[in-house]
Amino acid sequence: MTQAPVNVTVTGAAGQIGYALLFRIASGQLLGQDVPVKLRLLEIPQAVKAAEGTAMELEDGAFPLLAGTDIFDDPKQAFEGTNIALLVGARPRSKGMERGDLLEANGGIFKPQGEAINAGAADDIKVLVVGNPANTNALIARSHAPDVPADRFTAMTRLDHNRALAQLSKKLGVPVTELKKLAIWGNHSATQYPSVQHAEVSGKSVDVDQAWLENDFIPTVAKRGAAIIEARGLSSAASAASAAIDHVFTWVNGTPAGDWTSAAVASDGSYGVPEGLISSFPVTAENGQYKIVQGLEIDDFSRARIDASVAELVEERDTVQKLGLI
Ligand code: NAD
Ligand code: LMR
Repeated sequence: MTQAPVNVTVTGAAGQIGYALLFRIASGQLLGQDVPVKLRLLEIPQAVKAAEGTAMELEDGAFPLLAGTDIFDDPKQAFEGTNIALLVGARPRSKGMERGDLLEANGGIFKPQGEAINAGAADDIKVLVVGNPANTNALIARSHAPDVPADRFTAMTRLDHNRALAQLSKKLGVPVTELKKLAIWGNHSATQYPSVQHAEVSGKSVDVDQAWLENDFIPTVAKRGAAIIEARGLSSAASAASAAIDHVFTWVNGTPAGDWTSAAVASDGSYGVPEGLISSFPVTAENGQYKIVQGLEIDDFSRARIDASVAELVEERDTVQKLGLI
């Protein structure tokens, strides 16, 4: 190992996604098979013991690329010198909780984490927010990290992208590798818009009927998270961890020529999405930067769906603004 280890902070490390994610990071799947990593786990004090158990298992994996695991219950320490931050831990919605209550409870988590990233993270910090409501949690964290370039804060819609790939591949009877240029627009919520408008199968445009899109594909992808909760009694964990790995790997290593992926990134005003909102777009990655794909024609159906999801993001932003969280 000649390269210094990359510091990777994972919050909510003792949770279900954490358990599926940490071993894949340790095995080199987050950054590449030649990149050593040092894990920094952040948990709330009550869950530190469980995180210690996971750290023992990480040690027992004898991963050649794992240079060590440290556990913290203080964000300031957990983000000190970190290069990659995976913000997974969040406050789940409990019975009777309104959307505003949920946003407020998460503000209490993502505000101090944004401040800690601003104060101590490495200059090349890249942040992926997984904890829900992911887009607005990312907005809160970013607004408390004024010294970090806005494009370093992203939220995860790669799971939705992967779900869309899987559904279209099943419908067309082709492997996912034959599909390109699917896109998730908007919020990681049931209003999201999984779009096949520019999608290609084996280099040709995708031809599927509108009724299937509207009644099957879009609702299946957009409500998949709820369907998994209904079936498992718990939210998706292994697929979410897998998508987080994909999101960061692509961010660092780039998208293949002739394709793009989806990520929620700070809007620059493209496609009428208000500047600064963390909204999902088709994106390419090059030289360690996600860039919104420019110049796509947006048909009327897509326009209405994008606008509806972006309207929800605007509402969430206005709520957290009123609560003084951004
Ligand atoms: P979980 O409840 O199993 O684990 C969450 C962990 O976060 C717990 O161990 C908890 O102690 C910890 N935590 C809470 N507050 C914290 C804080 N302030 N600092 C550090 N850790 C803290 O939940 P999970 O199944 O791992 O899911 C985590 C989040 O990811 C949830 O918000 C879930 O809704 C979300 N999620 C997002 C996507 C996506 O595609 N964006 C997909 C699946 C799940
Ligand atoms: C998912 O898409 O699987 C999750 O965001 C669902 C959830 O509410 O945790």
